[in-house]
Amino acid sequence: MRLTLFVCLIIGALINYAAGVDPTNFKTCEQSSFCRRSRKVQSSGSKYALIRGTLNTYTDSVTADLINKENHHQFTMKLEALVGSTFRLQIDEKQPLRPRYRVEHALKGKPETAQIRVLESDELTITSGSAKAVIQGDPFRIDFYENDVHVVSVNAKNWLYFEHLRQKAQAPAGEAADGGDGAQQEQQEQNSDAVQSPSEPIDEPGTWEENFKSHHDTKPYGPQAVALDFSFPAAEMLFGIPEHADSFALKSTSGTDPYRLYNLDVFEYIVDSKMALYGSVPVLYGHGPQRTAGVYWQNAAETWVDIYTTETNVVSSLVNFVSGSRKSTPPAAHFISESGIVDAFIMLGPKPIDVFKQYAALTGTHELPQLFSLGYHQSRWNYNDERDVTSVSAKFDEYNMPMDTMWLDIEYTDGKRYFTWDKFKFPEPLTMIKNLTELGRHLVVIIDPHIKRDNAYFFHQDCTENGYYVKTREGNDYEGWCWPGSASYPDFFNPVVRDYYASQYHLSKFKTVTEDVMIWNDMNEPSVFNGPEITAPKDLVHYGNWEHRDVHNLYGHMHLMGTFAGLQQRDPNQRPFILSRAHFAGSQRYSAIWTGDNMADWTHLQHSTKMCLTEAVAGFSFCGADVGGFFGNPDAELLERWYQTGAFLPFFRAHAHIDTKRREPWLFPERTRQIIKSALLKRYSYLPLWYTSFYELEQTGEPVIRPLLTHYPLDKEAFAIDNQLLVQQRLLVRPVMQQGVSKVDVYFPAIDDKKNGDYWYDVDTYQRQERAGYESIPVDENKIPVWQRGGSIVPRKERQRRSSKLMLNDPYTLVICLDRQGKAAGTLFLDDEKSYAYRDGKHIYVSYEFADNQLTNRFIGKPQYKSEAWIERIIIAGLGHVPTPATITVNGISQQLEVEQRNGAIVVRKPAVKMDVDFALKLNN
Ligand SMILES: *[C@@H]1O[C@H](CO)[C@@H](O)[C@H](O)[C@H]1NC(C)=O
Repeated sequence: MRLTLFVCLIIGALINYAAGVDPTNFKTCEQSSFCRRSRKVQSSGSKYALIRGTLNTYTDSVTADLINKENHHQFTMKLEALVGSTFRLQIDEKQPLRPRYRVEHALKGKPETAQIRVLESDELTITSGSAKAVIQGDPFRIDFYENDVHVVSVNAKNWLYFEHLRQKAQAPAGEAADGGDGAQQEQQEQNSDAVQSPSEPIDEPGTWEENFKSHHDTKPYGPQAVALDFSFPAAEMLFGIPEHADSFALKSTSGTDPYRLYNLDVFEYIVDSKMALYGSVPVLYGHGPQRTAGVYWQNAAETWVDIYTTETNVVSSLVNFVSGSRKSTPPAAHFISESGIVDAFIMLGPKPIDVFKQYAALTGTHELPQLFSLGYHQSRWNYNDERDVTSVSAKFDEYNMPMDTMWLDIEYTDGKRYFTWDKFKFPEPLTMIKNLTELGRHLVVIIDPHIKRDNAYFFHQDCTENGYYVKTREGNDYEGWCWPGSASYPDFFNPVVRDYYASQYHLSKFKTVTEDVMIWNDMNEPSVFNGPEITAPKDLVHYGNWEHRDVHNLYGHMHLMGTFAGLQQRDPNQRPFILSRAHFAGSQRYSAIWTGDNMADWTHLQHSTKMCLTEAVAGFSFCGADVGGFFGNPDAELLERWYQTGAFLPFFRAHAHIDTKRREPWLFPERTRQIIKSALLKRYSYLPLWYTSFYELEQTGEPVIRPLLTHYPLDKEAFAIDNQLLVQQRLLVRPVMQQGVSKVDVYFPAIDDKKNGDYWYDVDTYQRQERAGYESIPVDENKIPVWQRGGSIVPRKERQRRSSKLMLNDPYTLVICLDRQGKAAGTLFLDDEKSYAYRDGKHIYVSYEFADNQLTNRFIGKPQYKSEAWIERIIIAGLGHVPTPATITVNGISQQLEVEQRNGAIVVRKPAVKMDVDFALKLNN
């Protein structure tokens, strides 16, 4: 690790990249006393048992008491059945010295419970539909079954670990604090090891107070960690728990630190790393050919996750093959949190798409975004002034490139006082905004949660007078250091503070924007430049007397709740658009996210698909990475490939650090400009697909972008692939993410274990792939390797415009790619692209079907939106003959249409039917 890093640094210096993160600014498990203590259980196990005679059975749940057999402390356990093959397991102390924190606001509402049947024998069997839980009393363990297949075990490894709250013993003088000094600490640990079982490590250094670098954590409530192991007997690989700059498939943590979930502002983060980043989503999935299951560990405290994989190397798979035996230890995860309770949702699948929907049923989805937010976003730190904004926008027109949104980073404000403008650089913000709006464009401005401590700043005055800031242990307003200098942080956990914050977005208060200006919430981990690990101290105090320790990973989420409420109140007719850096489970209901401050190098480009795939299955379909890389200067080739990749991730924004060279497309040679332009046009041509996909995400919980295993669960070769992604089940995208290549290896997944695959049609040439397996695909500099699945219909819009808003009434092209049976199907959603009227049915949602040489449409719900758009062209690939002519029948009246050939497809020109009209298009044989 050290050596690798050292080599990276040298290479970095040689090619003149920024040096990258300093990992010593962030804790290792070994430097974190609760992680150290909880992880020790892995070598000795723990001893928890159900107490006989304490079982209570209800219509949807059972409860019982648990005992730690070593110290006799008692706990309550509740296992509840939820609709959709999901169980919820909660374990808390029976009589804690003070209440332990239970996460609020992450779930979208109270989960709907399901009826159970209970069978009591040696074990306790709880059945709910096809889901079953079998509880064993001593040692305590629960096995979960879906249709009688064993998919998850809880505490099969006996690593349940629950530190009960206790009074601090009076320490002899001189033994108080953890010095954090290596040698001394190790010495003390060895001493304490000798006398203590892993369940009682209570006098270990760092248990009652803890130091990291120059920071001291007072830990007034002492040790309170919770930890539990989950095994996945039907799985061969694990994935989930964003956010990490790592592969989609989780790697074993044997010999490394666990994956860490602790929202942090990591400067120039490194890739292939288990280090914590800006967001924490504690949901993890186990996948095997027959079954997929998941666990959502609902805990907002600092969390570490150890991963046990069964490494698939040639030898072991050969042994398995020869012996025909299953691996004896299934993949497993060990969740370790600093405080809170055990609150785990066990989602039983059975298929990948089922378990993604089960998670969405708990934590929700992003609502249908305004169409503009799916267009291209142009950002940099900073567009300097009004002239800069106007001229960048004008240049996009001059070069005929579509662009929807200009972004302003922190420098637009008056000295980093949010909700104000720098009056010299931006004397007329309303005129500037109106200018953009008239072009069909939007503006997004940044609003961060750190508040400048300036007595003349109204926001600071309000927060100070009303006690709205997060407090220190002593009850004072906490002061940290961030962009504005000395800053304090509103306590968004207080509903009164969220209301106050929301009201700041009202146009009566924030008078220098319009209802079309949307919001970027950055630095909300929260980032505190002079705090421990660049964030807030854990012993700060929040609303309800909770420690920051308990709620840290939710701080950004609560910030987003305030912003979202503010934008909805500001204009109830417009769907808010918010971009956030910090996020937790459920934040997807309020915002899109991006992968933070990445770097202009090829490995970071490669990690954009890996990271967004993991985010998408954890609820965050609306994900993207800074195109071009935030730090450093991309060369032309990297920038081109990054635009091409970004064009097929849901959130598509170029952004750059203030110290980087300007990199708007026209600053590059003509060739690069053309490549970027064609990537942008490609993005815009697929907007109807992105938009429909987001509508369907909201309706069903099915992610917009998906790993291959979602639809090819049997194909083991596909499980770990994370340089390719699916857009719904319609497109297969394999961006070019390596330097200087003229071909890429593309994996076409198999639908069964006989290596049969779908048909895939290259979207540029309609050339067809008919076999599963790897293919080497030539790629010139303009090529974005994308295929449409045979059997799907994709709506497109092909007229070139300045922004998506101007495409509202543009006609559609339907691209029909036929499967082996000559069939295809697909949906299209349209509405006003902006308001909530679609929720009252003011939309058109249509399903197209092609079979027996005929295309028909069927409306899902009554079409109640009046669209000026129409179908201008129908492209059919895979027909095998050129039928002339085609006949379209509308309202019983038939008309013949021209058919022509284009590459490997036929094109039916000008069907000219409106979007809300029934029709049938018949092709002659
Ligand atoms: C708005 O547009 C007009 C006309 O192009 C231009 O003269 C003016 O400078 C712009 N104002 C701002 C504040 O951007």
